[in-house]
Amino acid sequence: MTELVIRADGICKHYGRGQTRVQVLRGLCFELAAGESVAIMGPSGCGKSTLLNLLNGLIRPDEGTLELFGQPCQGLSDNAWAGLRRTRVATLFQDGNLVSTLNVVRNIAFRAGLAGLEVEPLGLLRALGIAEVAQRYPDQLSGGQRQRAALACAFAVQPELILADEPTGSLDETSARRVMPLFFEAMHERGLTALIVTHNPSLARCCDRVLELSNGALRP
Ligand SMILES: Nc1ncnc2c1ncn2[C@@H]1O[C@H](COP(=O)(O)OP(=O)(O)OP(=O)(O)O)[C@@H](O)[C@H]1O
Ligand SMILES: [Mg+2]
Repeated sequence: MTELVIRADGICKHYGRGQTRVQVLRGLCFELAAGESVAIMGPSGCGKSTLLNLLNGLIRPDEGTLELFGQPCQGLSDNAWAGLRRTRVATLFQDGNLVSTLNVVRNIAFRAGLAGLEVEPLGLLRALGIAEVAQRYPDQLSGGQRQRAALACAFAVQPELILADEPTGSLDETSARRVMPLFFEAMHERGLTALIVTHNPSLARCCDRVLELSNGALRP
């Protein structure tokens, strides 16, 4: 039987209350097998980032059950979630998630260090085409360079699951075409599982499956 990395069943999530209440997810069900890559598409505001943040424990569902790596998440403490984020579940946030006071190389070393690993950042940066910005701080990078630096940080953690929120959103077509194969090569090499939110149809086509998030649920 294939090992499941994610099993979500009947997930509901809302924000706000009273007149500002927004029901975002309505009984979402979803399974992701080990080694699989799935693209999630859907219009702005439909709940894609919300879904990723439920899967990395930054927010909690109102209803439904979630299992990661075959373990129920319901009773997990904040510390246990933080441990998962440090080691097994890497999130590539929409706006990049680099430490502003560390340069790119140190960001990578820092993230690897949190997972108890040592890495050679320059090799990763070269492969991603941003070796020339290795010594720069995040505020000295373009949006696309920041996204690639964040990708280098995610790979440095050697996670089992990558949750990526529009990983090519700030990249021009040429850079996206350069970075996408690296992403999938790294995935296959390391046996990674990936859930990728994207508006980019060519990135979605590279994934094993494409799901549409609409009306708070996922469908093919
Ligand atoms: N912290 C919050 N408080 C209140 N409403 C929120 C909060 N975060 C998100 N929302 C609302 O929930 C809905 C889903 O937001 P989410 O960020 O998940 O959408 P998305 O699909 O990622 O959109 P985009 O493609 O623009 O990134 C939106 O209507 C958004 O305004
Ligand atoms: Mg989003």
